[in-house]
Amino acid sequence: MILPSHLSVRNGRLAIGEHDTVDLARQFGTPLYVTSEDRIRENFNRLSGALTAHYPKIRVLYAAKANGNLAVFRTLASMGAGADVFSAGEVALALASGMRPESLLFNGSSKTPSDLALAVEKGIRVSVDSPDELRQLDAAAAMAGKTVDIAFRVNPAIEVPTHPKIATGLATSKFGIPAGQILDAYREALALEHVNPIGIHCHIGSQILAVEPFAREVEVLIGVARDLIELGVDPKFIDIGGGLGIPYHRETDRAPTPEEYAGAVMPVFLRGIKELGIEPELWVEPGRWLVADSTILLTRVNSVKTAHKAFANVDAGFNLLVRPTMYDSYHAVVAANKADAPAVQEYSVTGPICETGDILAKDRMLPELAAGDIIAVLDAGAYGFAMSSQYNSRPRCAEVLLAGDKAALMRRAETVEDLTAPMVTPPWQE
Ligand code: LLP
Repeated sequence: MILPSHLSVRNGRLAIGEHDTVDLARQFGTPLYVTSEDRIRENFNRLSGALTAHYPKIRVLYAAKANGNLAVFRTLASMGAGADVFSAGEVALALASGMRPESLLFNGSSKTPSDLALAVEKGIRVSVDSPDELRQLDAAAAMAGKTVDIAFRVNPAIEVPTHPKIATGLATSKFGIPAGQILDAYREALALEHVNPIGIHCHIGSQILAVEPFAREVEVLIGVARDLIELGVDPKFIDIGGGLGIPYHRETDRAPTPEEYAGAVMPVFLRGIKELGIEPELWVEPGRWLVADSTILLTRVNSVKTAHKAFANVDAGFNLLVRPTMYDSYHAVVAANKADAPAVQEYSVTGPICETGDILAKDRMLPELAAGDIIAVLDAGAYGFAMSSQYNSRPRCAEVLLAGDKAALMRRAETVEDLTAPMVTPPWQE
C-alpha cells in the first residue's frame, strides 16, 4: 500500500510521524481520531507556496467545516490562514483561534438574521447568496449604523467530476446567483447604503480531481470582474473557493498537485486581471486538501465473522465517519498492528451501528484479523469528526493531536452523561 510521507511502517506497526499507532490506541483508547499538526503545516505551506509562486496577493481561507477542532484552527491561524465560515459556531472558533474578523468570509445560502447581525457586529465580510439576503444584510447593517463589505456568490454553471452531492457550482445547485442575474445584484448593492460590494465569490464543489473546471471557473469570475468594472467597482478580492481533491485511492487516483492546480488557475487569473488593469487579492478556500490526510481514525476489531463473506466488526462506524455511507467514499484501511503482514483475506470493515450501510471499507484484502486488532482508516481529517453524530446514543470519541514527539488530547471522548446533559424533562414527566 502507498502511504503518505508522514505515515510509515515500523517494526510491523503503522506509525504516524514519530508515533506508534498501536501505542496511541492503547494510551488513549479507541475509537480515536489522531491528527498530525506537522502534516497540516506541511500541507498549508505546499498549497500556499504553489499559489504565491505566481502572485503575491494570495489569501488562504481555511474551509472551517472540514475539521472544526480549535487546535486545528489554531494551527492554521498560526500559519496566517483566515477562514471560510458558515455559522456562528465557526465564527466563534475562528476568532478564538486568533484569526482576525477581516480574514474571514461568512458564507452560506441560508443565513439567519442572527448570522447577519453577527457578521455586521464583528466586521466580517459576507458572501451574499441572494438579493433577499442582500436586503436583509443592508437592513441589519443600517440598524447597527455600519457598512459591511460583501461579495456575491456566483453560480458559474460548471459541471465537475465529483459526487453529485458535493458539486456546488451546477446550474441546478442551491448555491449562488446565476451569471445572468449577478450584475443586477451588484447594481442593487451599489444603490444600498450599508453594503459595500468589493468582492466576487464562487465555489464549484469538493473532491475535484481535475484542474480544468477551476480554470473555467476563474474565466467566469474574470468575466464578472469585467462587468463590475463597467459598473464602477474595483474588485478588491476574487475568491475561487476550495475543492481540490486528494487521492483517497493512492494506488489508482491521479490527483492534481497544488503546483498543477496553481499552474492551471493562475495564468487565467493573471492574464485576466492584467487585461482589466486591476490587482485584486486572490482568495482560496481549501478544506480537504489542508487537513484530510493529516488524520487517521483508529478503531479496534471487536469480532470477526465469516458469513456470506468475512466481516471485521470494529468500534467505529458511520457515527464517526459517515463519508463511506453518505458518498460511497473510499478510505484506505491498514491493520495497524499487522502492518507488514501479508494481505491474505478479503474483509468488509463494518461498524457498530444498526444499519446495513454501516461499512467503513468494503471487500479489502487485509492480513488475517482477530478481535483486539487495530485498524487505521486513513485520510479521515476532512469531514470526518466534523460530520460525526451520536447516533445509536454513542458518545463521540476523543481526538489526539501530534506535534513532533508530543501527543495530547485535543478533544476528550464524550461520556454517556454528555448525551443526556442537554436533555430536559418536560414538566408533565417529572
Ligand atoms: N468553500 C465553500 C463555500 C464550501 O462550501 C466548501 C465545502 C469549501 C470551500 C471547501 O471545499 P474542500 O476544499 O474541502 O473541497 N462532506 C463532503 C464535502 C462537502 C464540502 C462542502 N463545502 C465530503 O465529505 O466529501
